[in-house]
Amino acid sequence: MSASSTHNQTKPKTTEQWQALDAAHHIHPFTDTAALNKEGVRVITNAKGIYLYDSEGKRLLDGMAGLWCVQLGYGHEELAEAGCKALRELSFYNNFFKTSNPWTIELAAKLAQVLPAGMTRILFANSGSEANDTALKLIRYYWNLKGKHEKKIHLSRAYSYHGVTMAAASLSGLTPMHTQFDLPLPGFEKVPTVYWYGEGGSLTPGEYGIAVAKKLEEKILELGAERVASFSAEPIHGAGGLMLPPDSYWPEIQRICKKYDVLLHLDEVITGFGRTGQWFGAQTYHVEPDIMAMAKGMSSGYQPISAIALGSRMGEAIASANEELVHGYTYSGHPVTCAVALKNLEILERDRIVERVRDDTGPYFQKSLREIFENHPLVGEVRGIGLLGAIELVDDKKTRKFFPRERDVGTLCRNFCFASGLVMRAIRDTMVLSPPLVITRPEIDELLSLAKTCIDRTAKELGRL
Ligand SMILES: Cc1ncc(COP(=O)(O)O)c(C=O)c1O
Repeated sequence: MSASSTHNQTKPKTTEQWQALDAAHHIHPFTDTAALNKEGVRVITNAKGIYLYDSEGKRLLDGMAGLWCVQLGYGHEELAEAGCKALRELSFYNNFFKTSNPWTIELAAKLAQVLPAGMTRILFANSGSEANDTALKLIRYYWNLKGKHEKKIHLSRAYSYHGVTMAAASLSGLTPMHTQFDLPLPGFEKVPTVYWYGEGGSLTPGEYGIAVAKKLEEKILELGAERVASFSAEPIHGAGGLMLPPDSYWPEIQRICKKYDVLLHLDEVITGFGRTGQWFGAQTYHVEPDIMAMAKGMSSGYQPISAIALGSRMGEAIASANEELVHGYTYSGHPVTCAVALKNLEILERDRIVERVRDDTGPYFQKSLREIFENHPLVGEVRGIGLLGAIELVDDKKTRKFFPRERDVGTLCRNFCFASGLVMRAIRDTMVLSPPLVITRPEIDELLSLAKTCIDRTAKELGRL
């Protein structure tokens, strides 16, 4: 790269110039490159609190906290300071050669304090996908240590999203993630999941929760418990469409995993760090996992960092194996990412953000969401917990009839949102909200009023209002 092009990085450009450069050189994740390049990318230039600003000076209320991760909102000075300080003091050192550093040590200890009881041993990685990939390797290792070499099958759920590495994508139940890459790998099997609104039929949520959990038991019996290593699940489905478990579901899953000696792997990448009004979804649903993956809200998205926490059974076995664990990333426990994550946890605790979501903003958000949307002609179901919310758009409210997929009503609505200054995600025809945890009541009012405008516009466009 020439000196002048390096200098150019900081030079302001017009939106058209950014778009042309991006189109020429940048392949985006989960994006149709050709279509995007025709349309021109949106360039986000700065952000503060719950608002993003683009290169045209347009303000967007970020109803998705980035990608479900910016717990403390954007531009938090203390997080920036913590990162800068660590960058100056120890810009990098690894944790391989019998070394560690103050930030990694403190972060592991802090996580052990806020994690469910017994989860005291932590490994670090850089993304949710890596955390899940690592979790699967540790599950295999655990069973090998125990001499149970037959236990190799990883079970997970339809509609689940666990990331994009070969193993994490294989674990994911969103089938479009498989086709392009000849996945899943062998040894990955799926069971049905908790989509009561779409698939519950005439069962009550309670009956349905048990019936779906029993599908796990049937699958274990079909494959043979001696061959099943683990069951992986998000406490609440995120990217699959924000499906929440009925109260009956998790206790039954826990019972089944215990009965057949199947390790329970919880993917808390979205549900961790206060999103549901508790530190972790495991606490919200009283689940005791053997291993847990976390990322996103761990640093409020300010740095790429993830972690894997081990319950006592796996933790003790691996920590006392008396041999080298042949696994780790160059950046596992990077001092700068750990410094930012540590500060993030300190602020979540100091400012009582998790309690605020549990007692104040979470209940307010849920109540308002239902009041505004439950009787809307285009809305089939409103669901959510804490600061997670979903509004499912349907063709016929009475009969729970969905729109044909090719109609792409979700994208229609999402486009109205962007045009109106709101980021709201569409998953199929379910509109999803997951705002920063620092959002205030007046900001929730603003968010939901914008969402209402956009859903009304969608309804009008479809001739329903
Ligand atoms: C539940 C869950 N697990 C794993 C991942 C993958 O995380 P990453 O994109 O950081 O690899 C995601 C990302 O959205 C997620 O929602």
